[in-house]
Amino acid sequence: MSFVVAIDGPAAAGKGTLARRIAETYGFHHLDTGLTYRATAKALLDAGLSLDDEAVAERMALDLDLSGLDRAVLSRHEIGEAASKVAVMTPVRRALVTAQRRFSGKLPGTVLDGRDIGTVVCPDAPVKLYVTASPEVRARRRFDEIIANGGTADFEAIFADVKTRDERDMGRADSPLKPAQDALLLDTSEMSIEAAFLAAKSIIDERLNSN
Ligand code: CDP
Ligand code: CDP
Repeated sequence: MSFVVAIDGPAAAGKGTLARRIAETYGFHHLDTGLTYRATAKALLDAGLSLDDEAVAERMALDLDLSGLDRAVLSRHEIGEAASKVAVMTPVRRALVTAQRRFSGKLPGTVLDGRDIGTVVCPDAPVKLYVTASPEVRARRRFDEIIANGGTADFEAIFADVKTRDERDMGRADSPLKPAQDALLLDTSEMSIEAAFLAAKSIIDERLNSN
């Protein structure tokens, strides 16, 4: 059976950074499930279709090819916004969750990061991590990323976006963002990437040894 590491948390908490490091260390396959919502939203935007039509959005989600997902192509701000809108639709979630579960069965193991991995997609995962940080710290990280890439950014606007996205993700009826009961909480507000990785590694090693 595949060994699954489920990582959830809000935007810019450090999920992807941690997931990639774990996947590299253990030779596991990694899926950033946010990209599946982003790609569905981009398909609608590119085709000039409404973001409100559930049946059309579901079709896009069913047609999605997980092997072609690329964060560089999907990173635009409008795509992230649109993704959190299609993510409230139950038929879209059902289609994407099915594809994500299929991915989670890959051998020898997988790391999935998103908002509902430990609660909905892989509730039986032997390792569940809930990575978070204060909204200010997360907005600062997004701001620093844009500046480091040579862009310009307005901190207050990013901070407002982070809070709106949190509200939408935590407040939706279907699969809201929340820690699974058995998740290890990692608040990275004042924790380095290395310290978060070592905390994750310790629980992964313990579960791998008892499996
Ligand atoms: O990178 P960022 O934190 O901006 O977001 P993302 O992980 O790329 O996800 C984009 C949006 O997809 C999120 O705001 C969620 O609304 C949605 N999403 C979700 O509902 N469930 C997941 N498992 C992953 C993402
Ligand atoms: O995947 P998610 O949106 O949760 O976050 P990320 O893309 O992994 O991390 C967002 C940014 O925060 C990246 O630039 C990381 O290098 C940085 N980060 C950090 O400064 N300290 C941490 N403990 C974790 C991430």
